[in-house]
Amino acid sequence: VTIDWTALDRIPNGHTWAAGFVAFLLLCFVLAAFLGGASRKAGAELNGLPPVNTRGYRPRGPVFIPFEVGNVTIDLQPTLTETIHVLVGGTSRTGKSTSVLPLFDLPIGVLCIALDVTPIEEKCRQVGGKVWTNDPAECAFGLNLLGGASMFASEGLVAGFPKSEGNIGDWQRSAREVIWDGMDAMDKMGIERSLSAVGAVLMQATGDAEVGRICRSWARKLGNLDRIIGPTLGYDLDLVDAMRRGEKVVCRLNRFLSPDDAPFLAGLLLVHARRVMQEAGVPFILIIEEAGQAALAQGHLSPIAQAGAARGVPAVVVTQNMSKLPVEVRNNFHVTASFAQEDKHERDVAADRLELHPDQLRRSAFPDKGVGWCYVRAPGVPTTLVHVKAQRPAKRAPAINLNLSVGTPPTGPRRSVIVREMGGLHLVRPALPAPKREAVPLGLQTSDGLRIWGRLKRTGRRCPLWHPTRGLWWDEQGCLVWTGGTNGKRPKSSIGPRSVTVYKWVYEQVVGPVPAGLTLDHLCGNVLCADWTHLEPCTLEENNHREPFRKAAFAAALAAV
Ligand SMILES: Nc1ncnc2c1ncn2[C@@H]1O[C@H](COP(=O)(O)OP(=O)(O)OP(=O)(O)O)[C@@H](O)[C@H]1O
Ligand SMILES: [Mg+2]
Ligand SMILES: [Zn+2]
Repeated sequence: VTIDWTALDRIPNGHTWAAGFVAFLLLCFVLAAFLGGASRKAGAELNGLPPVNTRGYRPRGPVFIPFEVGNVTIDLQPTLTETIHVLVGGTSRTGKSTSVLPLFDLPIGVLCIALDVTPIEEKCRQVGGKVWTNDPAECAFGLNLLGGASMFASEGLVAGFPKSEGNIGDWQRSAREVIWDGMDAMDKMGIERSLSAVGAVLMQATGDAEVGRICRSWARKLGNLDRIIGPTLGYDLDLVDAMRRGEKVVCRLNRFLSPDDAPFLAGLLLVHARRVMQEAGVPFILIIEEAGQAALAQGHLSPIAQAGAARGVPAVVVTQNMSKLPVEVRNNFHVTASFAQEDKHERDVAADRLELHPDQLRRSAFPDKGVGWCYVRAPGVPTTLVHVKAQRPAKRAPAINLNLSVGTPPTGPRRSVIVREMGGLHLVRPALPAPKREAVPLGLQTSDGLRIWGRLKRTGRRCPLWHPTRGLWWDEQGCLVWTGGTNGKRPKSSIGPRSVTVYKWVYEQVVGPVPAGLTLDHLCGNVLCADWTHLEPCTLEENNHREPFRKAAFAAALAAV
């Protein structure tokens, strides 16, 4: 058997492969059972693992998210309802973080929650992505961590309640209820959500003396936090928007700045990762880097692991200690990749998942002292030893000569200060990257898709969107408008012999089929728009019902501008 991964370079074209895939799955089960048995028998004979048969494998569904570990490619999203999660483990400096870097080259949004320093950050900058951290000296823009549904925003603010302070569960619930109500009230009154505003609400909490005490204590904590991280919060970067646009974002926790606040921030970031999964409505990849550092906030990993499947958001969790993750987190991950492990207990856990002998995971059992080598096991892929390519060394940004004068009298000689724009010390605050040309979405990278894409034009003027439960918001990019023909009302184009409605066709290619019996509602109210994030499937009745409400909401919004 040979490996034929080249077939995966092609973009899938619908469901014609489904039958082949089912046949392939059956074959895989047989092979997996056979090869799995063979590999166990092989014992310590590492390189004697038979090659994996992937001939005939075709990804399913309109979205194909390849995760390449050595010569094994795993479609993280075989169907829109069954998302595959990946757990990457291994001891320090073996190449775990390196193995996820190629995900940043895919034309799809990537959100990385990094709970510690990481090489992923540099990769993200290289591809024009944004890196947020809670250190105001390093981060020149504000991240919207207070926005979104008050249900999530309030949860985020109490997620990191310290264990030492009483009964966390009850305390969290009480403080959260007060914050939730407070946020709803702020929204109604048009008061901007901020840490200090939330603090003020908590200070005023009435009722139960115990609740009042908890809330005041938490208010003081938020007040202190506001001083430390306040400047890094704001409206410049909204994670939901960023994922809808297919951007790359790393949110990195800087615990050096104030270790006491690290649990708070880890919890806040993980809750917001979940919020983005819930609200984005488009597939993207969530990476949780150094998940072992989540500490108290570990409980927030399990809903992420479970929720991804329903929302088309695959999660890749990287950690040195797989065994330390709650078992309900581990159990929701279909793909296991383990690099060498120093710790015996870790080896036992990883070996069990991989159906290997623990000794096979010793550093000394791998080539190259274990750097860059790992075992992978996935549905349809029996345990396979692979070598993950080292990423080519990051190009150093050229040194810029700023000619700053440093502490010398104006008449004296000017001293040159050399700074590097990226990496190292951020003497210069990184600016947000210039807007790129919009990437062709994966689903439209076909000949018909590219033809249609060429006739869609982004207006670039901010436009309002309205939804009965989400309310009103603005899209700064504007609509994606069809410049071709219409049937007098709807945008039309021909695909082969068929005449199709453009926005519906685009939606089907990029997001997936519109459920039977439902129509697509334009949240932007522009019937020529084919931006799939402006579209929502709903019944015709609901669609018509929304129309006058949308018009009224738009009129009010435009009058207020
Ligand atoms: N395939 C490879 N071949 C050679 N060197 C590699 C390879 N992959 C990674 N490295 C190097 O090994 C070192 C560790 O890589 P990386 O940071 O990805 O490891 P890690 O397992 O995430 O470590 P940590 O647990 O400390 O975060 C880096 O210097 C990297 O350049
Ligand atoms: Mg790492
Ligand atoms: Zn639109």
